[in-house]
Amino acid sequence: MKGILFTCFLVIATTSAFGGDVNPAQDLNAFQKYFSSKFPNLPFREYINGVYAIDAESRSQWQEIEEFPPYELSISEGESEWKKPFSNGKTYQSCFPWPVNEGIRSHYPHWDVEHKRVVTLERALNECREANSEKPLEWEDSKLVGLSAYLAFHSRGKAMNVTIPNEEAKHAYAEGKHFFYTKRGQLNVSCADCHVYNASQKIRADILSPALGHASHFPVYRSEWEGIGGLHRRFVGCNKNVRAKPFQEQGVEYSNLEYFLTYMNNGLSFNGPAVRK
Ligand code: HEC
Repeated sequence: MKGILFTCFLVIATTSAFGGDVNPAQDLNAFQKYFSSKFPNLPFREYINGVYAIDAESRSQWQEIEEFPPYELSISEGESEWKKPFSNGKTYQSCFPWPVNEGIRSHYPHWDVEHKRVVTLERALNECREANSEKPLEWEDSKLVGLSAYLAFHSRGKAMNVTIPNEEAKHAYAEGKHFFYTKRGQLNVSCADCHVYNASQKIRADILSPALGHASHFPVYRSEWEGIGGLHRRFVGCNKNVRAKPFQEQGVEYSNLEYFLTYMNNGLSFNGPAVRK
């Protein structure tokens, strides 16, 4: 991505509109209000469709693709993996108190009070393997992404409802928020510069999606990836696009970022897996 592209930006914020003391409920209100005044005719529930919620032309292409969704194979792979017993005879289900059709995905990310960290769905799946003496999978292993796709599919329509139960969780949220508003990379732009202040603007061949809705629909099948991948893989790509050093998938930085972003999306519905360009 060339630096010159940024000359087309109408707004590059110099200060965060959401700075100051950490007050998640207040942040959430300001965040969602910002978008409802930016897109006054867009129904709230539509944000989960990203760019397709705001651009009619790409929406019709997307609807055609959705007739034969390219993520279906991944859901099947995830279903077989979910049902395959570990060598001790147990299955993944033994680690989760909710049945699949009650929306396991909708319980993540959450704050793990005991281990004092954010647990994403992918981390919970790998922790389950380790608790059953199996080796953890690579974060983008098709089995793990498949499991995530399978669980997301059976959580469609469940509300996003991230909670921040204590001060430590609030600290992780604040870290995620800070990440989101920090300018980085050679191009010196933040997530918010692109996905808040310039949402709906064109950058190269892309239209920038609003950050409201960003956490609803992963994993995502992308033609650019020629396959399906998780939210953190997207974070890596967006960091690289501004020539910033990406962080480890499922590391503390991206997990806190996911925690913040999903909290900002509270009230929307999960609708993964999805397709994006
Ligand atoms: C230079 C602008 C730019 C920056 C900075 C940027 N992104 Fe992106 N991002 C894009 C573009 C372009 C796309 C593809 C079009 C779209 O869906 O917005 C994208 C896509 C995404 C998506 C997928 C949206 C969907 O509907 O599936 C997510 C999530 C995302 N970005 C998160 C982030 C986060 C978090 C950061 C900060 C770490 C960030 N981006 C920084 C340009 C940017």
